[in-house]
Amino acid sequence: MNDEHAHDDHHDGDRAPGHLPRDATPPELRHDASESDAALADVGVVIVAAGSGNRVGGKELKQFRWVGGKPMLLHSVQMFQQRRDVAMVVCVLPKAFVGDPPPWLFQCDTDRLLISVGGRERTESVANGLEDLPDEVNIVLVHDAARPFVSSAMVDRVIAEARGGRGAVAALPVVDTLKEVDDDGRVVRTIERTRLWRAQTPQGFPRDLIEQAHAQARAERVVATDDAALFERLGLPVVVVRGSERAMKITDEDDFARAEALFTVPE
Ligand code: CTP
Ligand code: MG
Repeated sequence: MNDEHAHDDHHDGDRAPGHLPRDATPPELRHDASESDAALADVGVVIVAAGSGNRVGGKELKQFRWVGGKPMLLHSVQMFQQRRDVAMVVCVLPKAFVGDPPPWLFQCDTDRLLISVGGRERTESVANGLEDLPDEVNIVLVHDAARPFVSSAMVDRVIAEARGGRGAVAALPVVDTLKEVDDDGRVVRTIERTRLWRAQTPQGFPRDLIEQAHAQARAERVVATDDAALFERLGLPVVVVRGSERAMKITDEDDFARAEALFTVPE
């Protein structure tokens, strides 16, 4: 019997089929956690990758397309797993891929990878991912797979605020003048921009509070385009930390070329 078949016969109950054994993890991506590291690792990451990428279109999902030398989703998985404080990365995939994820996804520390099933709205996808986080997680980061180039320094800033008991959003100040327009394109007014920021991900939260915010959103059937909004509506504190242009979200086809150009620019 060859090795692959031997592994096929030993599925862990909570793991997707196709999960590679730990030996398959390339040495440079292995965590090699000492016992003290494992004790300190209390950050759980939910990467939402369950969208359908309608604005990009095409037959391959945008989060699986190559950008910056590898599949988009793999950038985030590997970046988070390079951190010693990360206990687990939960990838939320479209239902059709949960049983048979793309094989490249396992080019990571598979001991710290779980796969969850996405929902119809992003908010549901996040909620599903939160449910799969292991007990040791105290700090939760939620991240869009569509933002492949996030630096660990930016993640540091988000985690530091979340450890202080607040929600934390990577964000950039708005620099353009903002116009509100009517349906005919006529300017209605100019909006004061000095207090406006563009929210990115990751966003970080104390685990108990983000679970509470999602439970309440579910009960009240509220959906939002980010998780901080669910926090804010409960009156919980959220702060911004400095994000990065490189953390742009790939939304349409043109963004692939833009992201590729930004990838080569140092942080
Ligand atoms: N997402 C998700 N589950 C959904 C919708 C979105 O996990 N039901 C994820 C996407 O995969 C993406 C992130 O949320 O990583 C941000 O969403 P967006 O950029 O809007 O991606 P899509 O929803 O896939 O694209 P579109 O809105 O153009 O269809
Ligand atoms: Mg969307």
